[in-house]
Amino acid sequence: MKLRNKIALVTGASKGIGKGIAIRYAQEGATVVLGSRSMDLLSAIAEEIRGAGGQALALSLNVRKLESVQQVVDETVEQYGRLDIMVNNAGISMAHPSEDLSPEDWARAVETDLFGVFYGCQAAARQMIKQSEGGCIINITSVYGIVAAPMRAAYCASKAGANMLTKVLAIEWADKNIRVNAIAPGYIRTELVQGVIDKGMLPVGAIERRTPQRRIGEVEDILGAAVYLASNEASFVTGSILTIDGGWTAYGYL
Ligand SMILES: NC(=O)c1ccc[n+]([C@@H]2O[C@H](COP(=O)([O-])OP(=O)(O)OC[C@H]3O[C@@H](n4cnc5c(N)ncnc54)[C@H](O)[C@@H]3O)[C@@H](O)[C@H]2O)c1
Repeated sequence: MKLRNKIALVTGASKGIGKGIAIRYAQEGATVVLGSRSMDLLSAIAEEIRGAGGQALALSLNVRKLESVQQVVDETVEQYGRLDIMVNNAGISMAHPSEDLSPEDWARAVETDLFGVFYGCQAAARQMIKQSEGGCIINITSVYGIVAAPMRAAYCASKAGANMLTKVLAIEWADKNIRVNAIAPGYIRTELVQGVIDKGMLPVGAIERRTPQRRIGEVEDILGAAVYLASNEASFVTGSILTIDGGWTAYGYL
């Protein structure tokens, strides 16, 4: 159990990667606070964790709203006395021709994928600064914050911003004993991605051919890194952007 007695907050924990991280953290001994907008799904996952002998609490959260993020951090501290691990995972993807992208859609993506990450980092750090033992923040960004994809201006710009935010905050808060790292996944087979594949809307064959390891990732592929970065084994790791993409971003050949 690598996260025994740690208090972790995972945003966007109702589905996909966030759900996977929350369940794995609980298996590693952490008390997990799950935040998301869909309370039905979230409560069922918290119940599942408790049923397996873990500790979990579900809280309603909208990462686009600073007050909502602050409130969830405050409630976590009220319940458990501190916050050791903050995973800013909530995010939305968006693919639209840039010349037609509406200000509303642009704002929705940037407010979720960049502002929401900053709000999460800031609210968590304010608490971690008060704790002598500091804490650790993990931002789930994307390979599309490193390399470009068409029709994803808002998503790519937000994720690139979140990657740089990770580095800035890591160096700024290093002397406060707060580590800040990012995991940048490539294509990961969540329920949502599988649904898009099933509808024939994602060229999975082409993506697999473009990936040196010739497959898309599974949620499981992210979990070991999420545990490692949150654990004391990563005590000298900060400001890192860890790509988990089967070699996608490294590839620059034919
Ligand atoms: N799945 C992939 O292929 C992939 C690839 C690269 C990066 N990512 C990133 O990983 C993260 C998780 O993605 P996923 O594939 O699991 O997505 P998902 O759609 O399955 O889950 C996203 C979660 O975020 C929550 N969420 C969205 N907007 C929110 C808001 N305003 N406030 C609170 N919660 C909100 C959703 O309710 C859900 O719980 C995202 O940041 C995404 O950009 C995913």
